[in-house]
Amino acid sequence: MLQNNNFSDKELYELLTTNDKSMIENLHKKARDIAQKVYSNEVYIRGLIEISNFCRQGCFYCGINRANTRIKRYRLDKKEIIECAHRGYEFGFRTFVLQGGEDPIQDDDFFVEIIEEIKKLYPDTRITLSLGHRSKESYYRLKKAGADRYLLRHESANRSVFNKLHPADQSLDQRVDDLVYMKSLGFHIGTGFMVQAPFSSIESHIEDIKLIRKLKPQMIGIGPFISHKDTIFKDQNNGTSDLTTRLLSILRIENPYALIPSTTALNTIDENGRIKGILSGANVIMPNLSPSYAKENYTLYDKKKNKGLESAFGLKELDDLLRRYGYKIVVDKGDYKGE
Ligand code: 5AD
Repeated sequence: MLQNNNFSDKELYELLTTNDKSMIENLHKKARDIAQKVYSNEVYIRGLIEISNFCRQGCFYCGINRANTRIKRYRLDKKEIIECAHRGYEFGFRTFVLQGGEDPIQDDDFFVEIIEEIKKLYPDTRITLSLGHRSKESYYRLKKAGADRYLLRHESANRSVFNKLHPADQSLDQRVDDLVYMKSLGFHIGTGFMVQAPFSSIESHIEDIKLIRKLKPQMIGIGPFISHKDTIFKDQNNGTSDLTTRLLSILRIENPYALIPSTTALNTIDENGRIKGILSGANVIMPNLSPSYAKENYTLYDKKKNKGLESAFGLKELDDLLRRYGYKIVVDKGDYKGE
């Protein structure tokens, strides 16, 4: 096993603020080397299915939050979701990520049926859920039905920042509680945060890194905050690709075995974001398998990319790009290689 290599607070501050180009390049190189040691030059792909943009939550930064009356709401039915999985399987995906707003109509029975069906049709796949906060009973039922992984970002480990990003009916403690509980059920858990979200700071991102140390998630997802025109944060600055990639590298070095995606948000603010993420130590990419009407309305932030390299139809192009840098896409469940 590789050792976890945790930075001191002072080192983190320096890495996140320095203008020294060679120091930053060394950081990325070290992260790449660690990713290569654990996962070789293989990039795992996950087929993202955006199952609903109805949401009962009011997260202030998010374009599909309950207060937004301007978007067209949609939800996929069971048949459409299975159809996406079918298409995905043919493309070579062996993990499906069911992601959606917290849609009360899509209840536990709905998901149990879908999970069981996908596992019956495609036993050699993994199912990842990204469905927000649910009851303990619900997490239990979903795991029992055959779901393998669950993504729930903590968004900010600083309580006061968290509370400014969310209405009073949400709390950081609840998210952490959910994650700890899911892990105890046997889920592989994923957490993460938005880089440079409103009210966040270098100090709050250091807290994010330290919360991740405590939770030891198998998956870590981060991306720059990007403003959405129908939210109260519409005039806030977007996060940068520079800080996002530094944080990616730090997280890789501290968590050698983690599955870390190069996210759509990073590729949305930076046209070379996908490859920059990989070159900073990420080892996962999540192309979109959703039908086009879903893609167009699953607008978490403005100008969200859903074509070309973001789409499952762009896999060949993505693989060509990765190969130019010595990486390749693999047809694989893409399991966590840590303990
Ligand atoms: N900018 C960037 N990321 C966002 N997310 C939601 N809204 C935004 C935004 N405006 C991210 C959150 C959430 C994930 C599904 O998408 O971190 O957990």
